[in-house]
Parts: sequence; C-alpha cells; structure tokens
Amino acid sequence: MNFDRDIGRRGTHCMKWDRLEQVTGVSPEDGLAMWVADSDFATAPCVTRALQSRLDHGAFGYGFDDAGLRAGIGWWMDTRHGWAIEPGWIIPTQGLGHAIGMAIDTWTEIGDGVCFFTPVYHEFRQKTERAERVPFEIPMQLVDGRYELDFEAAEDVIDDTVKMLIFCSPQNPSGRVWSAAELNAVAEFCEKHDLILISDEIHADLMYGGRRHIPTDIAAPAFRHRTVTINASSKTFNLPGFRLGYAIIPDDRLRAAYQRRMRMTEYSPATLSVAATIAAYTPEGADWVEAQIAYLEGNRAVFDAGLNAIPGVWSMPLESTYLAWVDFSGTGMEEPEVTARIRDVAKIGVSPGKQFGPGGGTFNRFNLAMPRFMIEDAVARMQRAFADLQ
Ligand SMILES: Cc1ncc(COP(=O)(O)O)c(C=O)c1O
Repeated sequence: MNFDRDIGRRGTHCMKWDRLEQVTGVSPEDGLAMWVADSDFATAPCVTRALQSRLDHGAFGYGFDDAGLRAGIGWWMDTRHGWAIEPGWIIPTQGLGHAIGMAIDTWTEIGDGVCFFTPVYHEFRQKTERAERVPFEIPMQLVDGRYELDFEAAEDVIDDTVKMLIFCSPQNPSGRVWSAAELNAVAEFCEKHDLILISDEIHADLMYGGRRHIPTDIAAPAFRHRTVTINASSKTFNLPGFRLGYAIIPDDRLRAAYQRRMRMTEYSPATLSVAATIAAYTPEGADWVEAQIAYLEGNRAVFDAGLNAIPGVWSMPLESTYLAWVDFSGTGMEEPEVTARIRDVAKIGVSPGKQFGPGGGTFNRFNLAMPRFMIEDAVARMQRAFADLQ
C-alpha cells in the first residue's frame, strides 16, 4: 500500500488528467488535476491480483450477473454498514449515473419534477434535464459551518409535479454525513409528498474520525416501499472505469419495475468488473480501505492547514469523501477572479462550486485523492496564487 507513489496517469485515457485542459483550461504538462471524483491511487492489490488471474485465463466469453457478486455486495453491506440485505434485492447497473438515469426513467414521466438538496453532485440536475424532467433545487442552510436540511424551504420549492427526491448520503460536495434522524426526516418528507427516494450512497465507505455511515434503509425502515439505494465499489477502490454499480431495492414492487426497465437495456455487468468488485469486497479489501482512509486523513490535514492559512479562504472540515469543499467568499473577490487565480496562477483544475447548484457559487471543490507530495504542491500553488492576501 504505497499511496505516496505517483503512478503516472497522464496518457492512460483517464478523464482526470487527459481531459484536464479541455474541461478546466489547465494544461496537464504543468498543472494539477483535482477535479473529477476518482483517485490517483492504484487499486487494492487483492483487486489487481484477481484481475490478473482472470486476464491470464484468456477466455472472455459471455458472463452473467452471478451469485458471487451478490454475495460480495451482501458481505460488504453487512460487515461495513451493518445492513443485512438479501441477494435478490440487488440489481447491477452500469455505474451510478446509469442507475440514476434508469430510476428517473422508471418512476417519473417527461415533464415531472425531480428534487434534490443543493449544493449537490451536478449530475442529479443534468440527468433530470436530459430526461426532459424538471429539476427542483432545495438549498441547504450553512449553519455554524455545517450544512443543514431545510424542510420548510423544501415545502416552498416543490410542487405536486415533483415525483422523486435524489438524496446524496454522504453529501457530495461537502462530505456531510447524515444522522438517522435526518435520514428519517428525508424519508418522511418523501412520504408526505409521495416521492420515490433515491439514496445515492456511493461515498459511504470513506468516513473520517470514526464516523459510521447509516444506510437510509436502516434509518427509515418504515419507508422501504419508496426507497431505492444505489452504490458501487468504484469510489472506494478507484474502479469507476469499470462502470459497475448496483441498486439495492428491498421492496418487491419497486424492484420489479426497475428490473423491467433494466432488462429492456440488455445490460449485464462486464466480466472484469464483476471480478474486480468481488475481489474488492473481502477482508483484504477492507484493510486496504482503512489504510486509504488514514492516508486521506493526512492529505486532508495538510490541505486544510495550508488553505485555511490564506486569509478569507475556508476549507470545510470533511466528515467523509476525498472532495474538499473550499469557500472563497471571505476573500471579497468576485468568482471570476478566484477562478482565474486557481486556473491561471495556481494551475489547478478544480470543480467550480456553482456547478453544484444554489449555495455553491463561492466554493470550489478540490479532489484530495492523490499522493501527499501533490497535495503539498497544491497548497504551495494556492498560497502563491493568493499571496497578496497574506
Ligand atoms: C454522488 C455521486 N453519484 C454518482 C456518481 C457517478 O457515479 P458513476 O461513475 O458510477 O456513474 C458520482 C461521481 O462522482 C457521485 O459523486
């Protein structure tokens, strides 16, 4: 487990570095890629070994959605999150973007509304719009440096065209971890307005400071009939290129509806993706994740100390995820100036906060899942770019 090693991702068809310039305007030659949410770490050795052995076998005929994958997911949910699920509840998907798109398609009609609490993963909005549904954005409140859900605001924002709530637990961006009471309140809100609740838990494994993720289904068992959980091994083990995720749907009626739509797409998980996830969801995989979390905690400490030393800049203390959420409002600068300094002076490609919806405008999101020396470099670049404030 050498998270310090630069494995050199430039030129490997990787989005983060090879599309850096196109997306963020920062050259990969002398820039740092801290935008899209994957990591620069090699995955767990147990995953690489399993893939190698599958490659050595050499035959890649049709696979299928097998019992091993379901057993692995079940084991992970049980041991890591205390959630006992049945193998039959799992429906594999081609990642979570796909899972969300199919959920919108299954439970809403063109012109219906889909709501979410912002700032949030921008694809919730984009998927909604691409599906010709209408996004309803409910701003969270920042109270003493922590986001809070505002159900009164939610009542004012939504109307009876809204049929679905997509909830991010833990939240991307900001890393906010939700309590059982908060999750239950979200589900009660969905019950009151007859909304399908999609609980996106893709970031659930990377928790800091001994925090535990609570699956929405555990927090709100009374609302199972409207709850769909989606998850993946991808963020945790740096496997998003394998495009495998899964929905967990305990309710028979909901599951049947989703299954029907999925069958129409002829989707079944790719052989290597299945091998990778089965190998990840093991005790050895779990040990690797703990080591990764400890390393990320170190990155977070270096980054936060460095950024918070710049007057007017504030990095929100992360409760989970490797996505630092940094507020520049205290600098008194307009957003274009902050953006230009980060892009042209620091030469760091980040995710602009405004893309995450209302409440994100003064923030930028920095991905911290990279070797420590790059984090130190990022801090030095940011301190230089805002040196006149020191
Ligand atoms: C909350 C959340 N959901 C879904 C996704 C997308 O997942 P996938 O790569 O499996 O489509 C991301 C990726 O950053 C995410 O942060």
